[in-house]
Amino acid sequence: MRDYGKIKDWSLDLNEITIQFERQKMIVTVLTDEIINVFVPTWSEEHRSKAIEEEDYDRIAERGYSIDVTQGGEDILTVTTAALKVNIGDGGYVDFYDLKGNALSLEYRGERKSRKILNMWDMELLKAEGHDISSYTESAKPVEDVRVVGGNEPIYGLGDKSGLLDKRSYEYEGWNSDDPSAHTEQFRSLYKSIPFLICKKPAGAYGLFYDNTFHTYHDLAKENPEYMVYSADDGNLDLYFIGGGTIPMVIGNYTLLTGRAPLPQLWTLGYHQCRWGYRCAKDIAEVAEKFRELDIPCESVQYDIDYMDGYRVFTWDEANYGFQGELIGELAKKGFKSVINTDPGTKVEEGYFMYEEGKNKYFFRTADDSADYVNAVWPGDANYPDFGRKEVRDWWGEHIAKMMDDKKIMGFWNDMNEPASFNGPLPLDVIGHDGDRKTTHKELHNVYGHFMSKATYDGYKKHSGKRPVVITRACYSGTQKYSAIWTGDNQSLWSHLQMMIPQLCTLGMCGYPIAGVDIGGFGGDTTPELLCRWIEAAAFSTFFRNHSANGTIRQEPWQFGEKVTDIYRKYVKLHYRFLPYIYDLLHEEQENGLPVMRPLVMHYEDDAVTHNLNDEYLVGEKMLVAPVVNPGETIRKVYLPEGTWYSFWTGEKHEGRRYFLEEAPLDHMPIYIKAGSVIPVYEEMSYVGEKPFDRITLLATPEGGSTLHYQDGGEDFSYLKGNYNLYSFSVDTNGELSYEMKNEAETVPQYDMFRVVVV
Ligand code: GLC
Repeated sequence: MRDYGKIKDWSLDLNEITIQFERQKMIVTVLTDEIINVFVPTWSEEHRSKAIEEEDYDRIAERGYSIDVTQGGEDILTVTTAALKVNIGDGGYVDFYDLKGNALSLEYRGERKSRKILNMWDMELLKAEGHDISSYTESAKPVEDVRVVGGNEPIYGLGDKSGLLDKRSYEYEGWNSDDPSAHTEQFRSLYKSIPFLICKKPAGAYGLFYDNTFHTYHDLAKENPEYMVYSADDGNLDLYFIGGGTIPMVIGNYTLLTGRAPLPQLWTLGYHQCRWGYRCAKDIAEVAEKFRELDIPCESVQYDIDYMDGYRVFTWDEANYGFQGELIGELAKKGFKSVINTDPGTKVEEGYFMYEEGKNKYFFRTADDSADYVNAVWPGDANYPDFGRKEVRDWWGEHIAKMMDDKKIMGFWNDMNEPASFNGPLPLDVIGHDGDRKTTHKELHNVYGHFMSKATYDGYKKHSGKRPVVITRACYSGTQKYSAIWTGDNQSLWSHLQMMIPQLCTLGMCGYPIAGVDIGGFGGDTTPELLCRWIEAAAFSTFFRNHSANGTIRQEPWQFGEKVTDIYRKYVKLHYRFLPYIYDLLHEEQENGLPVMRPLVMHYEDDAVTHNLNDEYLVGEKMLVAPVVNPGETIRKVYLPEGTWYSFWTGEKHEGRRYFLEEAPLDHMPIYIKAGSVIPVYEEMSYVGEKPFDRITLLATPEGGSTLHYQDGGEDFSYLKGNYNLYSFSVDTNGELSYEMKNEAETVPQYDMFRVVVV
């Protein structure tokens, strides 16, 4: 229970209210009318945020705010903005209300009442059988915030955590973890730590962002249904209360605060094939050829660790993968782009350039600072670059540039950056840096992947001027500014196909619009049926890649015969047709922070059916996808929310707010278009860049409608200087099209053919 004592004194300086309690100082800052920070500096006087950077603060400052502070009696201070009211009371309690007086988030004032009680004797028995008893023995944490959550109100967020959309009644941890066993909904932590929650009350939605890179814990009304608990092993209480009223507005505010994913290069949104275990250039070339031969669109056959010389980062196994860029050059002629896996663990080996350049200079140090810290990853003994330092990021960035020059690499897949370690976890007292400040792994662990992504992004951008192509496994809040993500090592399990939907939707709600899972499942052996259902269900994901582990059966579609190949082709082609719509959504994301793949609750909050709907998703606001995610199922129970919807395949009309059954044989994934939508689609293509984008089709419903459509060169940043076409399309009820150019690019040719198709 928080007990800072009585309010002794307070002062207001612009938007910052400093409150001195008897035993603790607190600073409440109004960043915008809807974003309020509560900062309790028990660890450091300054924020030290990794999620929010200078540019983010500048952007937020442009929004402005209004503020009024009144003291109502001795024990309560009320801060009012144009959207929220905050009461700060004796003891250190901070409560948030809307302006109508509805309570949004109140601090829980009672004693915590754990439902987990076990005597010592039973605990020993459980332990003896190998059970994890850590949650029975937890002691009080130095940072804690306990907040009331009413009744059945759903709780969303926390990024990549396994399990369901509504995370109420579960507990999680923020500690980036590489655990290759099958992820179940009981898993507390995965690869990413994104301490952002969205709570949905009848009075409206709000968000809580607990900015802290130390090991954090979230009990989401599991210990007790009356409250949820956030705690951390160290750091400050640095809480951003995020208002907005609706889920999209809350996401908009959260991404205003932590930044938005920049537009990707268009080709990255296409299809990618990968496998850990393509042993040589010939393997890669054969797979690539096969995609073209079978007419399945594909952008890249990605290079997993096998291309390296002995798993030494930034090397190339010339014996098996040919001379510098030879294979890549050949594949490039056929439209393939080159993406390589890069791991931070740098081999300890005299003579190896990364070791020689980095030793005693760029790596994490042992706790007594006597030597570079050594653990082990793929190459054996390995050092860990101290990415928190700019000079180390610059060094890494130079090697990124070199790979781009020497080998014509176009994309970097940052892996094993939790960081993974094969000789036990990195000790918490290993020394690293945050800028020039010396600190330890305890603080840096959760931002290791973040800093590695930033290093890659900066190196790529500086060198090429193009939009960096970076994919990462580990990250923190804010990494979306630097990298797309994939969800790591899933398995070929139906439960993992099912998990994909809430996981990608949640990542989207937490600022990551460009995300994907390993289609078909990484670990374990997929089955023909599972692979078909997976490519269907993933068809609108923004990182669209089939990937499998060494030792599993090969997972390219043709391994499973003609029928699977045909189904696979159908959905990869479908994905490509919708690229302009996906790209439009990512363009809008720059403004509104919203993802492509969205849970239904994002746009139908008042419909309780959507609150924990885990097997359907929206693509933007205009499309709804209801994939089959159960084995043997050929009839799908579909829920359509309010409104009129049309089957994309047949044009059949459905009124929403009801369930119905749709036949869904193996080659069929139900897709619906919302009445009044206009959706841009492309012709078929084998890869991005195969043909000019000189024509566009507008998919409309009989009601007609309008849309803005965005088009740019798809590679560089010139769009920021106005080099893009923006079309305003309208389709009337006769299917007639009219359009107006809202912006004309200098160098991007406009379409010379338009077509309307009414579903
Ligand atoms: C990790 C990655 C996986 C990759 C493998 C080998 O397990 O998550 O995607 O294939 O390492 O590099």
